Amino acid sequence: MYLAVLISLVCFSSGVLSNSLLSPCKLSDIPCIEKSVNAALPKIISGIPELGIEVSDPLFIDEIEGNLSIIKYKFFNTTITGYKDCSISNLKLNDDLTSLHYDLNCPKLHLIGKYEVSGRLVILPVEGNGDFELISGKYVITADCEMKKNEGNDGKTHLFIKNFKLKMKPLTPIKFDFKNLFNGQKDLSDTVHKFANENWLEVAELVQEPTWYACTKKIISKVNKFLKSVALEDIILN
Ligand SMILES: *[C@@H]1O[C@H](CO)[C@@H](O)[C@H](O)[C@H]1NC(C)=O
Ligand SMILES: *[C@@H]1O[C@H](CO)[C@@H](O)[C@H](O)[C@H]1NC(C)=O
Repeated sequence: MYLAVLISLVCFSSGVLSNSLLSPCKLSDIPCIEKSVNAALPKIISGIPELGIEVSDPLFIDEIEGNLSIIKYKFFNTTITGYKDCSISNLKLNDDLTSLHYDLNCPKLHLIGKYEVSGRLVILPVEGNGDFELISGKYVITADCEMKKNEGNDGKTHLFIKNFKLKMKPLTPIKFDFKNLFNGQKDLSDTVHKFANENWLEVAELVQEPTWYACTKKIISKVNKFLKSVALEDIILN
């Protein structure tokens, strides 16, 4: 009996909590939805222990694998900071809520971890392993998501993001710092760093995709945890 009261209290309060994070909007009122999402996003990124949502800033990813045709890299134990300052624009939703489009605008992201790399950076051979640091400026990550609906235990409808495709573009220079390239041979390492820092856009376009997919997958799994606690019936106004 006590347990039942406790459970219903916990469920009730978590429902109230998550619904109050997303203010209700009409489906046709995109500015309202964008505002509501942008108000909820930093709270999701900060983590919501009551809903089992871990913090995403910093975001930790144990392994990122970039299997590209001319360059292969792995990042280990990567810590990414800066997601809490990202915001959404250009949101589009279709009428039956099966597709979602948005741009995520991030002013600055900072990655540190360990790396392994081997291949060619555009024109330069590159090889090494050690500590790395990446500091980006402004980035825009455009997502096209496929959404599905589920009926929850509460008999209400919950959305989740099933799949996504990304396009990403850095708008300002990225700073690359990879320690111990070529086993610490300074001349070779300096040449690669000079090239990467000067040609940040071309280099980013070559290597960025696997890293962004890994990060976005993590963030979206947290957004989906959040969506489990939000009933469409409670946030969509007619
Ligand atoms: C990357 O390539 C390696 C070796 O070819 C393979 O074992 C691994 O599964 C690939 N990883 C991904 C994420 O495609
Ligand atoms: C990543 O962190 C784990 C746990 O601290 C550690 O065991 C592992 O060796 C680290 N990986 C690398 C490549 O440093």
